[in-house]
Amino acid sequence: MSGQTDPRAFLGPDRADGTIYNDPALYEMEMERIFMRNWIWVAHRSDLPEAGDFITTFVGAHPVIVSRDRKGAVHVMLNRCRHRAATVCELSKGRTSSFVCPYHGWAYGLDGALRALPQPAGYGDLLNKSELPLVGLRVEEYAGLIFATFDPEAPSLDEWLGAARPWIDLFMKQGAGWPVKTMGEHRFTFPGNWKIQLENTTDAYHFPIVHKSFLDSVDRETQDTFDFVEGSGFVEDLGNGHSVMVMIPELVDLEADLDAPIPERFQDLADALLKDYAPEQVRRIVRAVGGSGFNLNLFPNLACSMAFFRVLRPLGVHETEIRHIAIGMDGGPESGNQARLRLHEHFQGPMGFGTPDDAEAWDRVQRGSVAGRDISILLNRGLAHEEAGPDGRLRSDVSAETGMRAAYRQWLASLEAGPGPSLPAQTGSCSHKAAGERV
Ligand code: FES
Ligand code: FE
Repeated sequence: MSGQTDPRAFLGPDRADGTIYNDPALYEMEMERIFMRNWIWVAHRSDLPEAGDFITTFVGAHPVIVSRDRKGAVHVMLNRCRHRAATVCELSKGRTSSFVCPYHGWAYGLDGALRALPQPAGYGDLLNKSELPLVGLRVEEYAGLIFATFDPEAPSLDEWLGAARPWIDLFMKQGAGWPVKTMGEHRFTFPGNWKIQLENTTDAYHFPIVHKSFLDSVDRETQDTFDFVEGSGFVEDLGNGHSVMVMIPELVDLEADLDAPIPERFQDLADALLKDYAPEQVRRIVRAVGGSGFNLNLFPNLACSMAFFRVLRPLGVHETEIRHIAIGMDGGPESGNQARLRLHEHFQGPMGFGTPDDAEAWDRVQRGSVAGRDISILLNRGLAHEEAGPDGRLRSDVSAETGMRAAYRQWLASLEAGPGPSLPAQTGSCSHKAAGERV
């Protein structure tokens, strides 16, 4: 399958071929070498607050269960029964003490161990339960973000996130001093290749064009805030395919400059909060409600932007699922979280003024791209001004395609690193550890 495909045939240093969105063999190669080899985000810590909590999701094409065991450890396990392959759990989330396969009743613990099966005597001594746990993935966590990988050789999550970690730390300041929590999501699919969305997260160039109706829908003050494309922002290559687009530099650190005037649109909220919170905390909450001033793209499929996580999942060469997961303050004022949800709906909601316009553009890219290999997709915007920033990483102006070039460098490196890891046949699940900790 993928052994015959040369990824370099699809990509040059400053352009790609339209077939990069359309080649079925390339897609299969991506699923194996990118989505099985790199760290893939599976959950936020707040999705699994208690022992026994679980969610089901995907790592690339593979269904997985993410669970928290009695000791608090998080496990990510292939959602595939070790008997005859049925998915063991199809609830999206819940709380349980075990996972019982609905086909013949094999029962697995929260750590994936095979605990019991009906009529075991039928196997005589042919079956050893300890050799048949749900297949486990490596699991590590950074700042509440839980990632998993099939690759035993992958670097640590700390190493993988690298220069993106300080940006994740800044993003989490949207908790306003409380931990961040997830608050529900919008989920939809679009008829296009996953890389079209990957390219979009740090693409400010489209914003004033595609999102004109959004800009027209807000008040003048907000409109000025979003009028960033000619401003002092930048895009930076953070390594390993990650990138950041800083739109509004003064909103990068939500803890900085807490004495700045409260925007008029948040004045009513601030006045109400002052009844219960100290003035400095009110300013922190109001800053958090407005969201961060940057987009962070974590290769290959997680974006942190404004007040949400955006997760993409390839469903096929021409179909991609998008989840927009709203985040808020875990323990913070309900009125603040309600205001954040309204912000989320205004832009990301199915009737919002942002995402439906993005989805139409992505759909058009897919339909236009089938025109053929000879017609390039340009990825060279900002290259003329791109240079090493203060810490040696490539940086260009805010509307540059620096983030796309960063993602495609990692795309190529992953595809050229040889076949992806094979699924371990007999291993148990790895126990969870926070990044940097040993368990
Ligand atoms: Fe799961 Fe048979 S397939 S118990
Ligand atoms: Fe957009």
